[in-house]
Amino acid sequence: MTEYKEWLRNKGLDYRDGVLYFADMNTLELAEQYGTPIYITDEHIIRKRYRELKNLLDTEYKNNQIHYAVKANSNLAILKILKSEGSGYDCTSQGEIFACLKVGVDPKSILYTGNMFTNKDFEFAVNNNIIINLDSVSQLDRLIKVHNKLGKQKNIISFRINPEFGAGHHAHTITAGKEIKFGILEDQVLDAYKLAQNAGFKKFGIHQHIGSGIINPKDFEKAAENYLSIVKTLASSLDIKFEFVDFGGGLGIPYKPEEEPLDIDIYRDMVIRPFKEIVETGVIGTPTFKIEPGRFLCAESTIILTQINTIKNNGFKLFAGIDAGFNTLIRPTMYGSYHHIELCNKQGREDIIEYDIAGPICESGDILGRKRMLPKLEEGDILAILDAGAYGFAMASSYNSRPRPGELLINNKSVFKIRKAETLENLLEGQSIPKHLG
Ligand SMILES: Cc1ncc(COP(=O)(O)O)c(C=O)c1O
Repeated sequence: MTEYKEWLRNKGLDYRDGVLYFADMNTLELAEQYGTPIYITDEHIIRKRYRELKNLLDTEYKNNQIHYAVKANSNLAILKILKSEGSGYDCTSQGEIFACLKVGVDPKSILYTGNMFTNKDFEFAVNNNIIINLDSVSQLDRLIKVHNKLGKQKNIISFRINPEFGAGHHAHTITAGKEIKFGILEDQVLDAYKLAQNAGFKKFGIHQHIGSGIINPKDFEKAAENYLSIVKTLASSLDIKFEFVDFGGGLGIPYKPEEEPLDIDIYRDMVIRPFKEIVETGVIGTPTFKIEPGRFLCAESTIILTQINTIKNNGFKLFAGIDAGFNTLIRPTMYGSYHHIELCNKQGREDIIEYDIAGPICESGDILGRKRMLPKLEEGDILAILDAGAYGFAMASSYNSRPRPGELLINNKSVFKIRKAETLENLLEGQSIPKHLG
């Protein structure tokens, strides 16, 4: 069992004289200087997580590529950090590809794993020479027409397979199974690749992503078994040597202090080794092993600092009202997710009391932490909400007309603004009032 202090330290946090430090910086001073709410990212943690994973892959199967799932956090600085580590990218929209290209990412290292692709999406990808993971057999025909219209060669194609076994931290993040909208089911796979061969595609990849926030490596095992059996049958039936086999993302992180981090050595045993065994049979060629982690690389790199403005006893329970809400971090409201919350100034506080930590959004569901045991809180206190680097800002909104907060990056005790906080004026941008309304 990881000790609490150790669990915090793994996320760049520690208390010094009762004050919470993040990335070696005093969180109270950061809140004072930059205001709240604010997202603060420790560059070092992203690099560390990337290297842990990359080393594991390199020691087991050299021909590998990590494609960072941009949907988790598409800030340009984060993309740049991962570029310098040698990462590839997995994108789900034109916007994500656009951001990658803006920071100089080589189009060859981008995969486009969209769903419900439009012809415009295909034109954008084909024009930019981006590899596509198709999500439906019906899309192939439209993609071919786009190639023909643009006079572009058909090079490599990949399909997203639904291995009919999914997992995840919430029903909405399970992305495989018969009821799920993603990918193509096993009985369509042969036809899909045959059609692609007949249409003139010469090179092939294959893709799966079973879900998000998986902390039990055994969940990967079952999906990998089904998936690899599909890959093998496909390769031998159609004589395909795959350029890549992509296992998707989904690697979870310990959001709760009692949770152990995902044991990536077991992931290696359950996913990479069986893959390697199949490669050694010679049936599927010597494909690149690809994975697409988002959360694993960046979730733990970021905290949100938020200030308590109201302590309220409604006669039944205690609420601590803060300036961050589900507009800032939607995961607790959307998925019932747990994000650990720390008081930044614990000094001299001994009474431990139960609070609901409530945001300012006009909805009862705007609770970022339920039944949290915290030292006695006071108006003006600063709290840190942990693990907000993945699906934090990326899912933030300006609901209730609240400007989205800014983002800071810390590198070796230097602080960089990587996104300005929005202003009230920003909220009105792009709107216009028709003349007849005066
Ligand atoms: C296709 C695909 N790849 C990768 C990911 C990243 O998942 P995670 O952040 O859980 O690693 C997702 C997340 O939804 C996804 O849909």
